[in-house]
Amino acid sequence: MVDQKATNVHWHDGEVTRAQRHALLGQKGATIWFTGLSGSGKSTVAVALEKALHQQGRLVYRLDGDNVRLGINKNLGFSAEDRAENIRRIGEIAKLFVDAGVIVLSSFVSPYRADRDQVRALHADGGMDFVEVFVDVPLAEAEKRDPKGLYKKARAGLIKQFTGIDDPYEAPQAPELVLPSHQMTLEQEVDALLALLRARGILPA
Ligand code: ADX
Repeated sequence: MVDQKATNVHWHDGEVTRAQRHALLGQKGATIWFTGLSGSGKSTVAVALEKALHQQGRLVYRLDGDNVRLGINKNLGFSAEDRAENIRRIGEIAKLFVDAGVIVLSSFVSPYRADRDQVRALHADGGMDFVEVFVDVPLAEAEKRDPKGLYKKARAGLIKQFTGIDDPYEAPQAPELVLPSHQMTLEQEVDALLALLRARGILPA
């Protein structure tokens, strides 16, 4: 939890409401939060879902671990504290996008349950949809894929605090969806996600 530092600051409501923005766009915003080990396939499925939603005429925007760490979060590393701050900022950014009416696809390892739950609570406070998707592959599978060669480096001791090797991953206890990406085709994963979004009223039935 980050304490409020500035004093004498207050929230100002505008004169255009969230409902009015949603009416303009013909959709309401929501955050689809992908969590899982590095190499589990979070970004791959987020990219595919983004394309499918865009083709259906939905305004969608992807927030991705590596990309965000090159920009707004370039001052953060991989200590538990920095990961918490990484996720906190992403949660706040996602919330702004959702308020604007955008469907946000966020793919971060987000290994700590408490950090993810805080983002969930942030959305609940704002009356916003938050859907947690656990991209669940065994460590051995992620390590076999090793798309960036990082597991190899972590095993060699060249990267410290690598999730799954010498840093924890806390699996979600009640995610809205589990995607065992090693047992599904990408198309099946996207179909499962689209069905979930329809069932939750984020997409029309
Ligand atoms: S998180 O833990 O704070 O949610 P985030 O998703 O932003 O992590 O970044 C993870 C990505 O950074 C991984 O996909 C991987 O490419 C890279 N990375 C570099 N070092 C580490 C590390 N120590 N642990 C996990 N991922 C790392």
